[in-house]
Amino acid sequence: MAAAELDAAERLGQGELRTLQLERLRATLHHAYEHVPFYRAAFDRAGLRPDDCRSLKDLARFPFTTKADLRDNYPFGMFAVERDRVRRVHASSGTTGRPTVVGYTDGDLDVWADVVARSIRAAGGRPGQIVHVAYGYGLFTGGLGAHYGAERLGCTVVPASGGMTARQVQIIQDFRPEIIMVTPSYMLTLLDEFERQGIDPRSTSLKVGIFGAEPWTEEMRREIEERFAIDAVDIYGLSEVMGPGVAQECVETKDGLHIWEDHFYPEIVDPLTGEVLPEGEIGELVFTSLTKEAMPVIRYRTRDLTRLLPGTARPAFRRMEKVTGRSDDMVILRGVNLFPTQIEEIVLRTPQVAPHFQLHLTREGRLDALTVRAEARAGATPEQRAAAARSIAAAVKDGAGVSVAVEIVDPETLERSMGKFRRIVDDRPK
Ligand code: DLL
Repeated sequence: MAAAELDAAERLGQGELRTLQLERLRATLHHAYEHVPFYRAAFDRAGLRPDDCRSLKDLARFPFTTKADLRDNYPFGMFAVERDRVRRVHASSGTTGRPTVVGYTDGDLDVWADVVARSIRAAGGRPGQIVHVAYGYGLFTGGLGAHYGAERLGCTVVPASGGMTARQVQIIQDFRPEIIMVTPSYMLTLLDEFERQGIDPRSTSLKVGIFGAEPWTEEMRREIEERFAIDAVDIYGLSEVMGPGVAQECVETKDGLHIWEDHFYPEIVDPLTGEVLPEGEIGELVFTSLTKEAMPVIRYRTRDLTRLLPGTARPAFRRMEKVTGRSDDMVILRGVNLFPTQIEEIVLRTPQVAPHFQLHLTREGRLDALTVRAEARAGATPEQRAAAARSIAAAVKDGAGVSVAVEIVDPETLERSMGKFRRIVDDRPK
């Protein structure tokens, strides 16, 4: 990409970026300590003052923040500004109990729009293009986050939100967007709908898909790119840190996501000991916000597993590898750890099987059992289905070292995604 098109921050050298980060980190620690009782108490317990952070390495001495901490301070206890300066709130549903609430000042909303605009541009989007946003609008950060970023870049935004799939297809046909922003699993639901309406998905105006909010694999990228004839790139984020636009894959390299480190400082820690791991090692991603006003987060444990790699298309910014999964989604089966993404890779490589699958957890006696339900492609013969089931079971046994049952079900019988897809159906007795 031409240097003139980049943000000033994207052109920083690594030394300049580190200086900026330290300055912003120190200001953030002060802001959190002085305005959020939770952080003051946590730092005091650790015997630390904000000024004890003299280098970026010193951050590792500060305590972590977890989702449980945000829940305990529900709804507005983590805010560092007066409530009337909070211009918007979002919330993430959470599978149990209270949602976690996040807040944004005018300044935060401004930064958020900037990083999403930067992300869309890194994905190949340009001012003047039409962006179809099919992330859900509402308390979820996907829809509105994408929306204001696309406007900031100077695009025409179609705020489709999620659902009403037939209408989505019609709007895409009529408005002719170049860009779509949607979860990868809902993109597959749209794919079915194009085919149902007799429209070749490769014939649309779409050039780029910006997919995130859930884990997805290289196999899924290939499937979507081929079936739609588009470039498929990854966008990452989480509400607690901001929303979409914390990190973005560049279309020219498609080699993992550049973290917008002028606003979000990443660390990788050992999920069990909390020890900071060196660059290149896989562990839990932890973020510290560097510019947030309404709700600074210090060392927030994302539970997402990945590793950090050096920058490529944006040399000063480190990359994170595609997220393997959340530690919460890890299935432990007879002592073996298994992520839905491992199954996704296998299912999507299996001929005669559609890219639709779900994992059913049950309990047999005292042991958990996993059944992979995958859909046959239309026209697959009973022999082909049986072969596919055997081949998936063998590949899981081979790759992960654990036996699973596989059922190949009829086309169009599995639940379809409407947004973030529920891959694991837990039917174990409570
Ligand atoms: O999902 C924000 C978002 C919206 C990101 C749209 C990208 C696009 P939450 O609902 O708070 O926020 O969920 C955050 O989703 O911790 C990851 O586990 C997962 N996640 C988000 N993006 C990716 C991705 C939004 N690209 C949680 N790959 C995160 C894998 C992702 N997982």
